Amino acid sequence: MKPESWISRAAAALVLLLPVAQAASLVKVTDDFGANPTKVGFYIYVPDVLPSNPAILVNPHWCHGTAQAAYAGSQYATLASKHGFIVIYPNSPNAADQCWDVSSQQTLSHNGGGDSLGIVSMVKWTLNKYHGDASRVFVTGVSSGAMMTQVLVGSYPDIFAAGSAFSGVPFGCFAPAGNNSGVYGYWSDDCAKGKTVKTPEAWGAIVKAAYPGYSGWRPKLQIFHGTNDEVLNYQNHLEAVKEWTAVLGLSQTPTSVVQNTPVSGWTKSVYGTNNWFEAFSAAGVPHNIQVQENTVLAFFQLNCTASCFSWGQGGPSGAVPSTVVTPVVVSTTKAAASTTTSVTVMVSKTSSAPAAGTTTAAAGTGQVLYGQCGGNGYTGPSACAVGKCSSYNEWYSQCIPL
Ligand SMILES: *[C@@H]1O[C@H](CO)[C@@H](O)[C@H](O)[C@H]1NC(C)=O
Ligand SMILES: *[C@@H]1O[C@H](CO)[C@@H](O)[C@H](O)[C@H]1NC(C)=O
Repeated sequence: MKPESWISRAAAALVLLLPVAQAASLVKVTDDFGANPTKVGFYIYVPDVLPSNPAILVNPHWCHGTAQAAYAGSQYATLASKHGFIVIYPNSPNAADQCWDVSSQQTLSHNGGGDSLGIVSMVKWTLNKYHGDASRVFVTGVSSGAMMTQVLVGSYPDIFAAGSAFSGVPFGCFAPAGNNSGVYGYWSDDCAKGKTVKTPEAWGAIVKAAYPGYSGWRPKLQIFHGTNDEVLNYQNHLEAVKEWTAVLGLSQTPTSVVQNTPVSGWTKSVYGTNNWFEAFSAAGVPHNIQVQENTVLAFFQLNCTASCFSWGQGGPSGAVPSTVVTPVVVSTTKAAASTTTSVTVMVSKTSSAPAAGTTTAAAGTGQVLYGQCGGNGYTGPSACAVGKCSSYNEWYSQCIPL
């Protein structure tokens, strides 16, 4: 399922790393580190020089990947030495394809077991052993690692401060339809092909069911996806936007849209305040997306070594933002009509004040990219000047890239 190019890229990165003298290295942890029902392998990179309370980054690999390949295939270890944080590289126990367990009921439940619990045990062990900063634990990954990122953020909102997912699928998307007990290591073809389409409320309910009764703070998240993804269809990006905006209680309409960032042709849509949720749409990019380590590091504030970070569990300065109150309710009730109205107002605000480089359309010739193009009660343009009009539900359609 994973393009061969990952392997050659990882190999190339390994060759590049060889001449660099680094005292610290990837180490396999063989201690009993706590509950690990599926026997996930535990590898860790601890820089020689650490601050007194180091942050922790978890970096699950892709399908057919390994902890060693993830270590060699990105800049995170080098950046960890530069900025003083610890990187945990878990290794999938699923020898058949080295994909993560993102489909079992256990992994999709808080303290329920599965691969996610083994990874969380690694985090707790590391926090304890290295006096880590429990409010600054982050997770990022590509493909299956991006799926696991969304699983961890969903099942363990009390552990992670933020996540960053490249070419993944929404939390719960790989669980087999109609089987509430789930299946370990299940490959959902429907999800991969973008056929698993749900309302924001349905997605939100799936995440909330992972931790029944939890009403605490939720991690912030950024997702990246290529519009030409041939392995995990781009629809999964749109579904993840619905899911996480619902979970975080944010409007599905971006508060800002920035073109050509961090790469030319990539569009960043920001939802809510404090960059609570960011979705990067990478025009023309296939599944093999280019990881943006510096963007991830800045989002997590892991490029800050000491006394310059403001983000952690609890939000900016530990304050729970007022935006995390109630989910956006889009239904056929009267209250929903006013929700739709405010969405429309926000869309026109975005359209009238485009970010630098935004493709704009003259009035009447079609909606701008990511602008609203349909939905009950909506009276604006229904044609898209750029891209195509995609329906989220009866209340909201949006212009998305072709
Ligand atoms: C649901 O998943 C469980 C666990 O893998 C499996 O034993 C069971 O047969 C599945 N049930 C159906 C109806 O597919
Ligand atoms: C981290 O990176 C971001 C983006 O490049 C930058 O704005 C910020 O100042 C950096 N933080 C530190 C502490 O260097």
